[in-house]
Amino acid sequence: MSHHDDNQAPVTDVKDAGNEDLCLSPEREAYIDDLQSRYPTKLATLLPVLWAIQEEAGWVSPAWMEYAAKRCACAPSHVLGVVTFYTMYHQKPAGKYHVQVCRNISCHLRGAPKIINAVEEKLGLKNGEMTADGKFSLEHVECLAGCSWAPVLQVNRTLHEELTPETAVRILDELE
Ligand code: FES
Repeated sequence: MSHHDDNQAPVTDVKDAGNEDLCLSPEREAYIDDLQSRYPTKLATLLPVLWAIQEEAGWVSPAWMEYAAKRCACAPSHVLGVVTFYTMYHQKPAGKYHVQVCRNISCHLRGAPKIINAVEEKLGLKNGEMTADGKFSLEHVECLAGCSWAPVLQVNRTLHEELTPETAVRILDELE
């Protein structure tokens, strides 16, 4: 079974002014206003607010975490906890194709170390690195909710399952 959503790449141009007036596009601000009018607390909208930030800025920088904390009326430390918990949020700029390889137990038992080696060799990257042309970035992650189809990797929002080192490399070949 596959979960093939859109293969939309994250935007890589970084907007991170780090100033008090940081705000999203008028459309996204209106979207958040609308969302917050339908929930009992602003905090309830933190996940979609972080999505909106990532869609616009490409990642969630410390300045944007401050923004999210103010927008959702919570402590910056709470935002940091959420951003670091979910693998879907990027804490640094991502490549056009952000490759996340699961290294947790189900995938590990089904060969994740070999997948990781093959992907690292193919891309010439280690965990947390990005190619000089910004095309690929690589991240090892703790679970992609695809344990039943281990080992898995995800490119942007597309999950690839039951991998071998060969099929993992082929997936990357097709993106080049
Ligand atoms: S352990 Fe790899 S997807 Fe859950």
